Amino acid sequence: MPLDILVGAQGGDEGKGRMVDLLAQKAGFVARYNGGDNAGHTVTVGKQTFKLHLVPSGLIHPHTIGVIGNGVVINPETLMNEIESLSRAGVTVNPQRLRISHAAHLITPGHRALDAAQEAARGRQAIGTTLRGIGPAYADKVTRQGLRVGQMLELPRFEAALKAHLHQVNERLTTIYSAEPLDVPAVTARYLEFAHQMLPYIAEVSHLLTEALRAGQRVLAEGAQGTLLDLDHGTYPFVTSSYPTAAGALLGLGLGVGCVERVVGVTKAFQTRVGAGPFPSELHGELAASLRGTGEHPWDEYGTTTGRPRRVGWLDMVLLRYSARINGLTELALTKLDILTGLDPLRICVAYRENNRQYTELPYGPDDIGAFQPVYEDLPGWRQELWQVRRWEDLPQEARSYILRVEELCGVPVRYVSVGPERDQVIEIG
Ligand code: IMP
Repeated sequence: MPLDILVGAQGGDEGKGRMVDLLAQKAGFVARYNGGDNAGHTVTVGKQTFKLHLVPSGLIHPHTIGVIGNGVVINPETLMNEIESLSRAGVTVNPQRLRISHAAHLITPGHRALDAAQEAARGRQAIGTTLRGIGPAYADKVTRQGLRVGQMLELPRFEAALKAHLHQVNERLTTIYSAEPLDVPAVTARYLEFAHQMLPYIAEVSHLLTEALRAGQRVLAEGAQGTLLDLDHGTYPFVTSSYPTAAGALLGLGLGVGCVERVVGVTKAFQTRVGAGPFPSELHGELAASLRGTGEHPWDEYGTTTGRPRRVGWLDMVLLRYSARINGLTELALTKLDILTGLDPLRICVAYRENNRQYTELPYGPDDIGAFQPVYEDLPGWRQELWQVRRWEDLPQEARSYILRVEELCGVPVRYVSVGPERDQVIEIG
């Protein structure tokens, strides 16, 4: 049964949107399995750039059916706005083309208000969340007081549960955080309207996808965020509250383990990070500015959801190897190789050092690496622009050596290399 899982092999923002766009060409279904509108997937088709937060980005292909799985938390306002703006751009999104799990959870303005209040209360220990209410929504899910999409099927009960939730949030906002309470009747009225709009999209996603897989249709599971933001396997507590790793795809869509065919890890040719957290190979100054870009292009290193400048650094192979292990990667997609043009030498972090000890594997997972010094291997750079290159043999020899070294250090073959933001600026290897 052909399930392909596409995961972020780093800390998010690896360029998954464009890889989904490519792999979705051969998929019947494209399914989001984790996170919510904290994600931001950018896909450039011709002159149009789509920035999607919630709807699976593979839906841009007219032949696909999009699925939002039970592992996702949905802000209905974002969902409806996205459906509308896609429709305005000529991409039809209707209940035939988009199915939403009854077991996905809802994000409310209460969750967003709590996210903001909790971040403010953390002060200098703030996580740097996207303030989209992700953590509080998953917290309600885990403590079994969340609001599920399926509750919208019975409106009076949904209304009662929503009001109880909003009153409880108000209690917390006012007593713990001295924050403004929410207007319960106004939020309730809006959410009842959303319920009417969402009803036709609600489905039993696990059954739908399993039947499709049994019939031999290819399903692409589209991960949001990245391995280092995984709740269990990331740089805790600087993580998101879901499971972006490959196992999260099975859990977040209700699929059995036997259907996985490929696990594609998307990694940039260098390292980035949004928000706080350890980053041993981080760069500052001129080199950082050249990797980050100025912010005038959609592909520059500024957050799609928040607009924040991303922290940047050299590619960290200790972390990439870890990611290959946690996800069981079968192949790598290396994005933004073109950004390395003109940098000489190129550095790859191959190990960490602390107190005269050297580590090539993480001794206690990635959350504990703040004090480590990177150990670099230098490789020669290249000067030739790569935007026009479409074949492996046309890459400069130094670029090929860089890719082969990444492959060797990671133990996973590089199957795709992207050399620009356009749909066709990808080299497929092998
Ligand atoms: P939250 O997911 O909004 O709770 O944010 C938790 C952490 O995950 C913060 O460091 C965010 O910057 C980071 N984060 C969440 N979503 C993304 C994403 O799509 N790309 C990169 N970082 C993200």
